[in-house]
Amino acid sequence: MIGFVWAEDSNQNIGINGHLPWNLPNDMKRFKDLTTNNVIVMGRKTYESFPNGPLPNRLNIVISRDKNYPVQQPAILINDKKQLFDHVDPDDKIMVIGGSTIFKLFKDDVDTLYVTKIHHDFSGDTKMTPLNYDDFKLIEKKEGIVDEKNIYPYTFETYQRSAHV
Ligand SMILES: NC(=O)c1ccc[n+]([C@@H]2O[C@H](COP(=O)([O-])OP(=O)(O)OC[C@H]3O[C@@H](n4cnc5c(N)ncnc54)[C@H](OP(=O)(O)O)[C@@H]3O)[C@@H](O)[C@H]2O)c1
Repeated sequence: MIGFVWAEDSNQNIGINGHLPWNLPNDMKRFKDLTTNNVIVMGRKTYESFPNGPLPNRLNIVISRDKNYPVQQPAILINDKKQLFDHVDPDDKIMVIGGSTIFKLFKDDVDTLYVTKIHHDFSGDTKMTPLNYDDFKLIEKKEGIVDEKNIYPYTFETYQRSAHV
């Protein structure tokens, strides 16, 4: 199973200056819940956005065209999509966590979309790659709790692929 996990604003912005445009701890918690004990696949720039290297308790797979790119152990470097399948088992949950270029790379392979829609306009320089939502069915939608630490309204949505391209 391949899932996408991401958060986007009202204009599909996902990043600015190599980082997230917002601070939303409840979304970070959802991200952790969805990815812990699973495989996470990310682009080199998203990997570099982590302040402390690979995320714990997940197999971190980083994609770069640079064969000598120095990923920190225990993360794994791959140079193209095909190599991913040398490192995962058929029943692994593979969570693609971005950024935009990696979502684009896997957009015909993804089965499940886990998106946090943040109902706010942020400045951004990276947008979510366009997806054809006609191929997916909304299976869960939950309003996020707004409080003093999570100040923007947001919705957690899950979509399952209903048609294959
Ligand atoms: N809101 C969210 O949920 C979310 C999620 C993830 C990331 N982000 C944000 O998005 C931004 C980063 O996204 P991005 O799209 O600019 O970068 P990215 O996808 O994280 O990384 C891009 C890099 O991945 C490698 N790559 C891409 N396609 C490849 C391919 N086909 N084969 C081999 N390597 C490939 C290349 O690395 P090399 O240049 O080393 O070859 C490329 O420069 C950041 O601001 C980050 O914070 C947001």
